Amino acid sequence: MDYIVVTIFPEMFSPFWDHGIVGRAIKEGKITAGAVTPRDFTEDRHRTTDDRPFGGGMGMVMKPEPLAGTIRFAKSRLPEAQSILLTPQGRPFDQQMAVSLASLGALILVCGRYEGVDERVGESLIDLEVSVGDYVLTGGELAAMIVMDAVTRLVPGTLGGEGSAQEDSFSNGLLEYAQYTRPRIFEGQKVPEVLCSGNHKAIEAWRRENALIRTFLKRRDLLIKRGLKPEERKILQKWYRDIEQLLKDQPLSGSDPLPGGQ
Ligand code: ADE
Repeated sequence: MDYIVVTIFPEMFSPFWDHGIVGRAIKEGKITAGAVTPRDFTEDRHRTTDDRPFGGGMGMVMKPEPLAGTIRFAKSRLPEAQSILLTPQGRPFDQQMAVSLASLGALILVCGRYEGVDERVGESLIDLEVSVGDYVLTGGELAAMIVMDAVTRLVPGTLGGEGSAQEDSFSNGLLEYAQYTRPRIFEGQKVPEVLCSGNHKAIEAWRRENALIRTFLKRRDLLIKRGLKPEERKILQKWYRDIEQLLKDQPLSGSDPLPGGQ
């Protein structure tokens, strides 16, 4: 995977490209990443990249000529790349989009600043507009990093021994199961016994159930969107029966047999 970022703040990307899994992927040649700046494609003494909006109003707009020049330069370096404009008006970024972007060989990520970019640049030079959430950032740089981060870890070989992207939250429409490491007891809380049992089938079953229940409790919207498999329906029915039983067995409040609610 090859990335070129179009940004007026190329320095923001050095720490991101120097660390962690992304840093290692670059060092190992699994991905390449570089930044180009519209400032280098200006023709005035002040290297101006923004201007006032036609029609008046607050804020500034990214000038079309330097931005278009920069994107064309990036395209000349990565002719096969899809060009993506990061903007709150774009298509919502999610794991499914990360997977489809990871299947492409190259991306040009265009970071807007100020109040936005001149509309005409988008019309001619942008393949896709992407938003990382329904909130407004001061520019597209952090959004571009989010996209690169999520896409890079899907590039084969980048995660190394640190796990498989197949088990991620969202990859099967569910959140990931709970994870534990040593010590076995932390501040009085024990690691679920089954995870220490060495019984791989039982561990697998526990993880499936845990992922399902967590998704139900934390992100019911995901389950509704995705639907339930027959075995998941069974798991939820078991929980439903257990809760019903608990409610039946539980004495009414006020008749607590153990003072202090033990
Ligand atoms: N630029 C500013 N806000 C953004 C967002 N939410 N997503 C992508 N790019 C942005």
